Amino acid sequence: MDLLLKDRVVLVTGGASGIGKATAALLTKEGSRVVVIDREASAAEAAARETGGDATGVGLDVTRFDDVRAAIGDIHGRFGRIDGLVNAAGVLAGGRFVETEPASWKREIDVCLYGVLNCCHATLPIMASQNGGQIVNIASDAAKVGEGQMASYAAAKGAVVAFSKSIAKEHGRNAINVNVVCPGTTKTAMTAFLTPEMEAKWIRSYPLRRLGEPLDIANMIVFLLSGRASWITGQAISVNGGYSMC
Ligand SMILES: NC(=O)c1ccc[n+]([C@@H]2O[C@H](COP(=O)([O-])OP(=O)(O)OC[C@H]3O[C@@H](n4cnc5c(N)ncnc54)[C@H](O)[C@@H]3O)[C@@H](O)[C@H]2O)c1
Repeated sequence: MDLLLKDRVVLVTGGASGIGKATAALLTKEGSRVVVIDREASAAEAAARETGGDATGVGLDVTRFDDVRAAIGDIHGRFGRIDGLVNAAGVLAGGRFVETEPASWKREIDVCLYGVLNCCHATLPIMASQNGGQIVNIASDAAKVGEGQMASYAAAKGAVVAFSKSIAKEHGRNAINVNVVCPGTTKTAMTAFLTPEMEAKWIRSYPLRRLGEPLDIANMIVFLLSGRASWITGQAISVNGGYSMC
């Protein structure tokens, strides 16, 4: 199936690692022009090169409103349009809630929630002026069913789901689709803390008896960005090996 993604300009935050990186690579295979955004320019540029396709790396801290506005304005000026935005930048501090401190809540909320707000705020007027665009925000299954040791992270991700549905309602009339992908545990740098024993234990909670690979999640993200998903908006879709079924 042709996903109708050829020559589409798509921004991927958190694109230097894990799910974002797999998404950027898959998009270039579909012929999209990809802008890989990540905290460190060198990492973003390296990931862009690794795709082997039409990809550019940009260093940007998504928590900084003014920097995000300026960078997305520059990207728009350079490419002339922005068709897709994937907000995959994220951090997980973790820990039993009563043992964590406000500094770690703030870090998670700054990146996982404000990062999404900042990038959407800068991109939506551009997409509205084009009368079209696709946004995919990455939340987590924790946003739907909660997760021990991840309460403040789950709070940020739950807010991303509510925010995404709200802007989907505001911008449907501009032919902008806004959806959320909620991954289950996926093997990336974020979950590198899992020991083989922990992994074996966690897998027992997954009906499909394996953890996710970045490509499992990227496949859904790319489908939602595609011209084949044009009547899907405001949805929070789990890709999770059956961990939760809601
Ligand atoms: N891996 C999982 O099990 C899992 C599960 C559910 C949800 N998620 C979510 O999926 C998304 C991707 O995570 P991943 O597993 O690929 O993790 P990852 O750590 O491999 O990648 C996250 C990327 O975000 C970047 N980033 C962090 N803060 C940033 C900032 N301020 N500005 C710009 N970039 C920043 C990091 O540098 C990194 O490249 C995240 O939003 C994460 O919360 C992951």
